[in-house]
Amino acid sequence: MSKVFYLTTAIDYVNGQPHLGHAYEKVITDVIARARRSFGESVFYLTGLDEHGQKVQQAAEADGQTPQAYCDRLAADWQAFARKLNLSNDDFVRTTQPRHKRFIQAALARLHAAGEFYTAQYRGFYSAKEETFLTEKDRRPDGTFDPAYGQITELAETNYWFRLKPRQQWLIDHIEANPGFVQPDYRRNEVLGFLKNNVLEDLCISRPAARLNWGIPMPFDPDYVTYVWFDALVNYISVPASLGDPAFAGLKLDYQPAAAVPGPALWPADVQVIGKDILKFHAVYWPIMLKAMGLPLPRQILVHGWWQKDGEKMSKTTGNVVDPVAVIDAWGVDAFRFYVIRELAIGPDGNWTDAGFQSRYQAELANGLGNLINRSLAMLKRYRQGVVPARHDELAATAAGTAAETRAQLERNELQAALITIGGLVTRANQYVDHTAPFKLAKDPAQAQRLDEVLYNLVETCRVLAVLLWPFLPQTATKIFAQLGLTGEPDKFALSAWGGLPAGHHCNDPVPLFPRRDN
Ligand code: ME8
Ligand code: MG
Repeated sequence: MSKVFYLTTAIDYVNGQPHLGHAYEKVITDVIARARRSFGESVFYLTGLDEHGQKVQQAAEADGQTPQAYCDRLAADWQAFARKLNLSNDDFVRTTQPRHKRFIQAALARLHAAGEFYTAQYRGFYSAKEETFLTEKDRRPDGTFDPAYGQITELAETNYWFRLKPRQQWLIDHIEANPGFVQPDYRRNEVLGFLKNNVLEDLCISRPAARLNWGIPMPFDPDYVTYVWFDALVNYISVPASLGDPAFAGLKLDYQPAAAVPGPALWPADVQVIGKDILKFHAVYWPIMLKAMGLPLPRQILVHGWWQKDGEKMSKTTGNVVDPVAVIDAWGVDAFRFYVIRELAIGPDGNWTDAGFQSRYQAELANGLGNLINRSLAMLKRYRQGVVPARHDELAATAAGTAAETRAQLERNELQAALITIGGLVTRANQYVDHTAPFKLAKDPAQAQRLDEVLYNLVETCRVLAVLLWPFLPQTATKIFAQLGLTGEPDKFALSAWGGLPAGHHCNDPVPLFPRRDN
C-alpha cells in the first residue's frame, strides 16, 4: 500500500480552554492537509489531547472532579473547537484512550526488555506548568528559575531513566545529513548548537504512583506511572499502530491493532507541526525514542512561532488573551483562518492586534476578494443575464502563473507566501475592472464583444481563485463555486486550469462574502 501523507500537531494539554496559539497551529496543519489532498495525495491529519500528568491532575482537583471526568468534559469542548476551526482532521487522539495505553505499554515493555532503561535516584526540580525536569544548570544568573516555569517543586526520588547519550552523535549526524528534518533553518541550528555544546543527560521517564497517579502504569513496575512527555510523544505512533500501519508489524511488540492489518501506511510522519517551546522534546528526545524502538524518524519537524497580544505575552491572569471562538462568531471562521496565515509566516513570533485584524479584513477580504467576486457576478448578471460568454484568455497566463507559484509555495509549506501570491491575482483582477471599465463598455453597443471578453476573464478568474483558496478558506471557496453556479467542491488543484467555465453556463446572483464593516 502506498505511503499516506501523514501530518500531526502537538497534542494540547487539556487543563483549560483552547486559545489563539492552539488554534493557529491546528489551522496551519489543516491548510497543509487540505493542500496535499487537493494535489491528489492521500492524507491523514492527526490532532488531539494530552490528558495525563501533574498539570491536568491539579486542574481536575482544583475543579473538584476526578481527572477522567474532567478530561471527558473538556475533551468535548476541544473537539467542538476543532469543528469550529473547520479542521479536516482524520482522527482525534486522547492519551487516555485504550488504543494509546495498550500501545505505549507494549513499547515500554519492549524497551525495558532491550535494556534501554535503568533506575536511579532523581534529585532536582520539577515544573508542573511545563511538565519538565529542571536542574541547577537551569537557574538564571540571580539563582531563580524563569517565571515561565511556574511553581517549582524540589524532588528526590527513585525513578526509571532512558539512556540518551549513546545516541547523541547519531542524532547530530542525522540532523546534519537531513537539512529538512528541522525547519526553519534557525530552529535546526538551535538544536544542533544544543547537541554539540552539551552532553545529553538521560531522561527521567517515570513518576512514583504514590505521588502522581494520573498516568499510564509502567507495565513492568506498578509502583510507577509513565512521565507525561514520554506518554504524549508516543501518540504520533500509537494511532497509526492501532490502525494497522505495516510499519509496526516487524517490531516484536506485544500489541494487536484493533483494525484489520495491513492498515494505511502512515509512519514515518511527513510533517510534525509544533511550537518553538517544545522543540527539544521533538527534535532530541523523540528521535532517540524512535531509534531505540527501531522506527524511522519523521521527515520534518515544522516549528512555528508564538503569538502575543498587543505586544505582550498572552495570559489568563491578566486577561490579555484572544478568544478564537469569539472572533469566529463575530467575523466568520474564514476571516480568522485568513488572518492568522496571512499575518504570520511559519517560524517567527507574531502579534495579534484587533486593529490589525480589522484592517486586513477590510482591505483584503471585503475590498479585495469579496468585492472582486461581487462585482464580477453583478456585472455578468446585469449585462449578460448571468450567462457566461465565449472563452477569452486575456488573464489566462496571469492565472496560470499564480497557480504554479501557489502550488510550489504550498509544497514548501510557505503558507503566508502562497496567500500573498493569490492576493496578487485578486489585485490584478480588480485593476483589470478599473482599466477595462465594463460599465462604460456596456453603454456602447459597438463594444459588445469587448464586454464579453472582459466578463469572461473576470468570472473565470473568480473560479480559479476559489480553487486556489480552498485549502485556506474552504467555506468561502465553496460559496464562490456555488455563486458561479458550479456543482461540487473546488477541492482539486487541477481545477485551477484556465477555461473551466463553458460558454452558455448560468451563474447565480452574487451574495456578499465579506460584508464591509464600517466602525
Ligand atoms: O506543550 N502561540 O501542550 P500545550 C503559538 N501537551 N503557539 C502556542 C502558544 C502561543 N501563544 N501557546 C501554546 C504541550 N502554543 C504538550 C504537547 S506534543 C506530544 C505534547 C502551542 O497545550 C505550543 O507551542 O502547552 C504547542 O505546540 C501547542 O500550542 C500545545 O501547547
Ligand atoms: Mg505549553
